Amino acid sequence: MSREMQLFRLCRGSISQVRCYATAAAAPQAQSKATREKKFEIYRWNPDEPNKKPWMQEYSVDLNACGPMVLDALIKIKNEMDPTLTFRRSCREGICGSCAMNIGGVNTLACISKIDTNVAKSTKIYPLPHMYVVKDLVPDMTNFYNQYKSIQPWLQRSDEKKSGAHQQYLQSVGDRQKLDGLYECILCACCSTSCPSYWWNGDKYLGPAVLMQAYRWIIDSRDEATAERLNQLKDPFSVFRCHTIMNCTRTCPKGLNPGKAIAEIKKLLGGFAKKDAPGLDTTALQR
Ligand code: SF4
Ligand code: SF4
Ligand code: FES
Repeated sequence: MSREMQLFRLCRGSISQVRCYATAAAAPQAQSKATREKKFEIYRWNPDEPNKKPWMQEYSVDLNACGPMVLDALIKIKNEMDPTLTFRRSCREGICGSCAMNIGGVNTLACISKIDTNVAKSTKIYPLPHMYVVKDLVPDMTNFYNQYKSIQPWLQRSDEKKSGAHQQYLQSVGDRQKLDGLYECILCACCSTSCPSYWWNGDKYLGPAVLMQAYRWIIDSRDEATAERLNQLKDPFSVFRCHTIMNCTRTCPKGLNPGKAIAEIKKLLGGFAKKDAPGLDTTALQR
């Protein structure tokens, strides 16, 4: 055998040995990838089987083949394992509020909640607490939306009928800033369904989400129905069932502070604060 051939064989042997080492080194990695199975225990209830009690169903999801958020896992379960699992979702951006649910004991949005990657621990998912359930993770929002409707969440002006044509109502920079921290609410109901007062008096107490929206319209410098709005809230239940426990603020996935908005309404109702006069006379600007 020529020296060149001997050298070639030697090199080939070493290369395959290196390959073997590489495969051996990669093996534990592949093994650890295969062990990233995460358990989800999910509340199930089917209205078509009214005699069957709600139950917790366990699913195992490979985190290596799943997106990082809880909503990714739910979609994967529905698409690949169990099409009967029912939940709401739309934007997957924390904007629509439809994927609100109780994840690991906290009311939050599934689309912006990271999966707890500790595979030794399962994640429990329930619908929003103390709500009637339509199916699985879907709560009945009828009472919540009726309460929202009751606060008349739109701009009200005494001159809107007179002017006839559509017109723009202006607002000073300072007045506009008063809406910050209020207008961002996506009405997901995470706060209201974390509030013990809302759990026990949800039929008469409006709850933090709706009250924060009530306050959003009360302090809007362009709105002229302030007195009527406050009058409507003057009873022992609509606002005053709030005992400032602050579960609402703690749980809000958008980082808002409904507890503070309720406190501001209480101050207005109690006569301890007054709505400021508008910084801009918008009708004068339109003359
Ligand atoms: S205040 Fe926060 S938790 Fe409550 S409805 Fe609005 S966004 Fe959701
Ligand atoms: S602060 Fe008021 S609204 Fe918020 S959780 Fe407590 S009682 Fe409910
Ligand atoms: S899907 Fe819209 S907020 Fe989660």
